[in-house]
Amino acid sequence: MIAPMSVPWWQGAVVYQIYPRSFLDTNSDGVGDLEGIRRRLDHLAWLGVDAVWLSPIFRSPMKDYGYDVSDYCDVDPLFGKLADLDRLRDDAHARGIKLLLDWVPNHTSDEHPWFRAARSRRSDPRRDWYVWRDPAADGGPPNNWMAAFPPQTKAWTFDEATGQYYLHMFLPGQPDLDWRNPAVEAAMHDVVRFWLDRGIDGFRVDVVHGLGKDPALPDEPPHLAGIPHCALNDEPSTHPLLRRLRALVDRYPGDRVLIGEVWLLLATTHAEYFGAGDELHLLFELPAAVRTPWDAGAWRQRIAAVQASHDPIAAWPTWVNSNHDIPRHRTRFGSEEAARAAAVLLLTLRGTPFLYAGEELGLEDAVVPRERVLDPGGRDGCRAPIPWSAAPTHGWPTADPWLPWPPDATARNAQTLRDDPGSILHLYRRVLALRRRTPALRVGGMALRDAPEGVLAFVREHEGERWTTLVNFTDDPQPVAAPGCVALASDDPLPDPRFTGVLRPRQAIVLGAQSSPPSR
Ligand code: GLC
Ligand code: CA
Repeated sequence: MIAPMSVPWWQGAVVYQIYPRSFLDTNSDGVGDLEGIRRRLDHLAWLGVDAVWLSPIFRSPMKDYGYDVSDYCDVDPLFGKLADLDRLRDDAHARGIKLLLDWVPNHTSDEHPWFRAARSRRSDPRRDWYVWRDPAADGGPPNNWMAAFPPQTKAWTFDEATGQYYLHMFLPGQPDLDWRNPAVEAAMHDVVRFWLDRGIDGFRVDVVHGLGKDPALPDEPPHLAGIPHCALNDEPSTHPLLRRLRALVDRYPGDRVLIGEVWLLLATTHAEYFGAGDELHLLFELPAAVRTPWDAGAWRQRIAAVQASHDPIAAWPTWVNSNHDIPRHRTRFGSEEAARAAAVLLLTLRGTPFLYAGEELGLEDAVVPRERVLDPGGRDGCRAPIPWSAAPTHGWPTADPWLPWPPDATARNAQTLRDDPGSILHLYRRVLALRRRTPALRVGGMALRDAPEGVLAFVREHEGERWTTLVNFTDDPQPVAAPGCVALASDDPLPDPRFTGVLRPRQAIVLGAQSSPPSR
């Protein structure tokens, strides 16, 4: 259980994901922008996160709210200018916060100049930057692959003008690039260099498992037909692409990082995307990461599975409870107590935790009336704007941003919670501070411990110092025998350091190794 002495920054870090449209608007168009993020950097520094990942801010027609990119090397005017991003980068760095962008290499927008050229005529040099196929014998799509959204639609769109279908694992406005074409790879390497040269600290890489595709484009077998192809595409040809990307990124100083979104429904091959330490630095093992229910046994299994897949190849795990694609865990887990305990759990596990903006406020998903639904994937609820104050416009310049506010925004906003030392916001800050000053929690080894049913127990250890996390997933008090002083409790800002041996309902505590009470 000995961790190496010197580790790259991302290994001891906590990353905070921002959905830029919803963070803070500063020019009264109802949509968050880069300047809004910059103005709230002090919130992030006060909270104590180490890095920020921005969901896409590139030029985009916004059919998938930025995950459809029409220029990878410019900022969409909705969010600001390139100079605003430079300013945000500098101001983040001045606070010791790294800045990560969300790179979308699997597909472009159909309005990207590459795709406009590709669809202009069959003989265009950019034609084979994308995946084109003739219609099947009956005139229908070349195979039975399904798109991710809108639900139950084909992954192919027929282009009348040139008489062929193009592939899109997501919307028709998101044509898949053909990464078998070396020109595509070279152009994308240029994009990566553009941002690394500009001082960006790394990328969250969208749908990274999608890059390599079986050139035969075989039909999905009958038992999988109907599942979106993006959840199944797991091709060996992706790995050499990732190796070359890793080599590019590792040539830069400062431990730049590639964090891949690997969203495979059935596969157990996620760990292969680490390669032999020569592909991704970190990856999200989705959907397991975000589908683990509020249940001690399920978490135990999940942690054991992560250890089994990561430890033998010395890979560093990530942990995530919420993001912009799924209902918030506060909503899924059903109570603030559970959300608080989940924060202690997430931030004391071995690995790099990812927070999703607003979870530190205990936000629930917004209830989005039918007439305000925007996202073709039905994900608006978790993308609601962040309320910064109790005022009617919640710190935004207008009362009516692009999506409705989350529930109870008058009570559940950054300012009100900051004024209350017992709030979930202060809990996040306390756990982050404890983590920051405790090497065992940041980089130490981890082992699951036996515990009564309904309770999860694990220890973190580093250089002889041992810390224990206990989580009671049940609605009843649970007796647990464990040594140490209470360094932190999910439901009490000033816990009695003497552990009574009983966990309160839905309570998580961290027991410190020290014999004297922790400083408060
Ligand atoms: C990823 C993103 C999601 C997006 C999709 C297509 O899954 O997280 O928001 O819609 O890729 O780019
Ligand atoms: Ca704005």
